[in-house]
Amino acid sequence: VRRFVVLGRSALASGEFSLDDLPGTSGRLDVLLRCVRAALLHSHGIRHDTVIYLVLEGGHRAPRTVRVDGASAKFVRPDERPLATLLKKVLSSDADESHAGFVDVRPGIALAKGGLEIVLEETRGSPKYVLEENAQDIRGVEFDSHDGVFVLGDHLGFDERTRAQLVSLGAKAISVGPLSLHTDDVVAIVQNELDRRE
Ligand SMILES: C[S@@+](CC[C@H](N)C(=O)[O-])C[C@H]1O[C@@H](n2cnc3c(N)ncnc32)[C@H](O)[C@@H]1O
Repeated sequence: VRRFVVLGRSALASGEFSLDDLPGTSGRLDVLLRCVRAALLHSHGIRHDTVIYLVLEGGHRAPRTVRVDGASAKFVRPDERPLATLLKKVLSSDADESHAGFVDVRPGIALAKGGLEIVLEETRGSPKYVLEENAQDIRGVEFDSHDGVFVLGDHLGFDERTRAQLVSLGAKAISVGPLSLHTDDVVAIVQNELDRRE
């Protein structure tokens, strides 16, 4: 399974955002929703071999993590507004309050109390990669295209502590090119690199 992890440093961990002004009211959840599209959808459907984790670090309910699993997710659409509506419903759930780890709240969509540590726990043993500018070019890196965890920052990038934690766990820093790109574009490029190697 290919796994993407997006760290939303300001992304709201509750459903208290406005669908009419997602970027202005959600701590940039819109960035994360575009990553869901880029990770999971191709023109004719959903990638069954991909899981994406959105780590939400903003607001009073943070940290919380949403996991969308392409193998079983339903109603994942390419347009942002229906995706935001779905996420709002998921984040309005209290299912994670009385449950340790991920709990399913919609088909293929699970919610957990906690942040990156819960993802690292679940993906223990899989090779990890930190996506960042000025690192080794992805084209020179060997992958198992079915077992990798790719961690990305949002519009604010990584905080230094998180990056150091990932590297100390053996995560390899890789780059998709010389420019600093939007997170969803980086996800699309990584998927493409993996597709080409299958
Ligand atoms: C818009 S960038 C972050 C920019 C932020 N201002 C910073 O200085 O870190 C969003 C995320 O996309 C990823 N990214 C952007 N450009 C990249 C590149 N050329 N190679 C690999 N990852 C990249 C990184 O994970 C980054 O945290």
